[in-house]
Amino acid sequence: MTSPAQPSTAPAPAEAVAAAATSMRTFSGIQPSGVAHLGNDLGAIRNYVRLQDEYEAIYCIVDYHALTSTHDPEVLRARTRDMAASLLALGLDPERCTLFVQSHRPEHTELAWLLATVTPVSWLERTPTYKEKRESQPDDINHGLLTYPVLQAADIVIYKASLVPVGRDQAAHLELSREIVRAFNNRYGQTFPEPQAVFTDAPTVLGTDGVRKMSKSLGNTIDILAEPELIRRQVMSMVTDTQRILRTDPGRPEVCNVCQLHRFFGLDYLEIQDGERTARTGCVDTKKLLADRIIRHYAPARERYLELQAHPEQVAGILEEGADGLRPVAEATLAEVREKMGLR
Ligand code: TYM
Repeated sequence: MTSPAQPSTAPAPAEAVAAAATSMRTFSGIQPSGVAHLGNDLGAIRNYVRLQDEYEAIYCIVDYHALTSTHDPEVLRARTRDMAASLLALGLDPERCTLFVQSHRPEHTELAWLLATVTPVSWLERTPTYKEKRESQPDDINHGLLTYPVLQAADIVIYKASLVPVGRDQAAHLELSREIVRAFNNRYGQTFPEPQAVFTDAPTVLGTDGVRKMSKSLGNTIDILAEPELIRRQVMSMVTDTQRILRTDPGRPEVCNVCQLHRFFGLDYLEIQDGERTARTGCVDTKKLLADRIIRHYAPARERYLELQAHPEQVAGILEEGADGLRPVAEATLAEVREKMGLR
């Protein structure tokens, strides 16, 4: 005698769960680099917040990726916590999106291995970030650095996400994810959507040195949720138009990072740029104004950040719930992929 089926408790068939995943889903990842910086927010986090109202949104703090450069366990743990608190403070809402830590869903790494088998090494060797890392950490060119974009592709496609909000500095990685998806679909049949990057209107934000991309590892950030004195110090240290030597010299706002950043903190930026161009205002005045505006803009988020830091158990609970909720989708995608590849 067969027992009656119990649809309410039986797990959904893998393919049904995976198919449900193809409705418009957005995914992005961010390194646990500590407190979020201005480049993170202008380039990506603003879009994370916006898209959580439009799509099913999943956001991930990518601690596996961070291991390619961060080797102190306590530092990694603290930075993961700080980034989670930053994202929540800046507007990610666990009621409207899923926030989790990558290593809490270890299926990402199995899928990365499977995708690695369709990825030519030459694609990875030509990745700009790999070339940069070879220069910036020549004594630590670990295998994780080379295979980094494969794990990034796995992060996205394990949830069959079609939209990926990222800053423009991630364009090459996203293109590589698309190539990996195409290679997989060609070999094993249509399985994953090709993920599309979603950019904000910000270019890659330059650091306080005015030359290189703003990045924690380069030490040129503006830490938007830090105490006002630090933000002020960081902004006042910004390199402006290097050809403007005297206060009376006309400035070139189009090459001045401070003038460019004003675009995001007030409607009067054209006027500010004109003041620089005609030497009506000096670089110091323009920096002071920018610091004031950044501090004012992020003050409510900073307050939320401090509250969250005072309640780490709350943040840990959100992350845990996020990872648990994703388990069925991650497992279903893996089951489908294993089957297609001949592992079952
Ligand atoms: P990460 O941690 O370097 O940056 C997180 C997000 O912030 C954006 N960003 C910037 N945008 C503009 N100007 C800047 N100076 C700037 N600095 C950072 C980045 O474009 C990014 O959107 N590889 C990714 C993490 C990742 C990922 C993923 C992203 C892992 N898996 C899957 C998308 C999908 C990274 O290192 O981002």
